[in-house]
Amino acid sequence: MKKILTMLVFFVAVIANGAADGAADAVSIILNNFGAARYAPGTIPKADLDKIIAAGVRAPSARNRQPWHFTVVSTTALAQKIVGGITEGNVLIVVSADSGNAADTLDCALAVESIYLAAQALGYGSRIYTGPIANINSSLKNDLGISRERNAVAVIRVGRLASNVDAASSASPRKSMDSMVTYK
Ligand SMILES: Cc1cc2nc3c(=O)[nH]c(=O)nc-3n(C[C@H](O)[C@H](O)[C@H](O)COP(=O)(O)O)c2cc1C
Repeated sequence: MKKILTMLVFFVAVIANGAADGAADAVSIILNNFGAARYAPGTIPKADLDKIIAAGVRAPSARNRQPWHFTVVSTTALAQKIVGGITEGNVLIVVSADSGNAADTLDCALAVESIYLAAQALGYGSRIYTGPIANINSSLKNDLGISRERNAVAVIRVGRLASNVDAASSASPRKSMDSMVTYK
C-alpha cells in the first residue's frame, strides 16, 4: 500500500510540474514575442502549418460566432503581391471577417494574435501586417478567393527565422508598465 501511495505522489508531482512548466512556456512565448522582419528560405511542414491555423480556429469570439476565414497563401508569387520582400517558403495567412463591424474585427484580431503566437511557440518567425489590407480589399479578393462581402482584417506572415535573429535582438521596446497600468 505504502509503495502504491509513494508512486501516486510521484506521478501527481510529475504531472503538476509538467503543467506548471507548460504555463511558464506559454507566458514566456507571450512575453518574448516579436514581429520577425528577417527570414531564411525553407518550407513549413504541413503538420506545423495545420497547428498554427488551428490556433486561429480555436480563438474565442463574442457569442462564439467565429466570424473569420483563413486564406493560406503558400505561393511566393501571390504572397509577393501582398507583402513585398517575401522569402521563399514564407506563408501568409489572410484573416477576413464576415463584416466590417467592430465586433467581428475584434474577434478576428484575437485569431490573428493566436496564430502569431502559435507560430512563435513552434519556433517560427511571424509578423502581423495591416499595411496590405486596403489593397487586398480593393484589388486582391479575386486572386485570393475571398468573397466580395468579406472584409480582410490582417495578414500574418510565418516563416523560418533567419539564424541571427532572436527575441532579445529583434523585439522593439515597449513603454514602461508604470505609464500604462493603473491599479485601483
Ligand atoms: C495590428 C498590427 C499591424 C501591423 N502592421 C504592420 C505592417 O503593415 N507592416 C509591418 O512591417 N509591420 C506591421 N506590424 C508589426 C509592428 O510594427 C510590430 O509588431 C511592432 O512595431 C512591435 O515591434 P516588435 O514586434 O519588433 O516587438 C503590425 C503589428 C500589428 C499588431
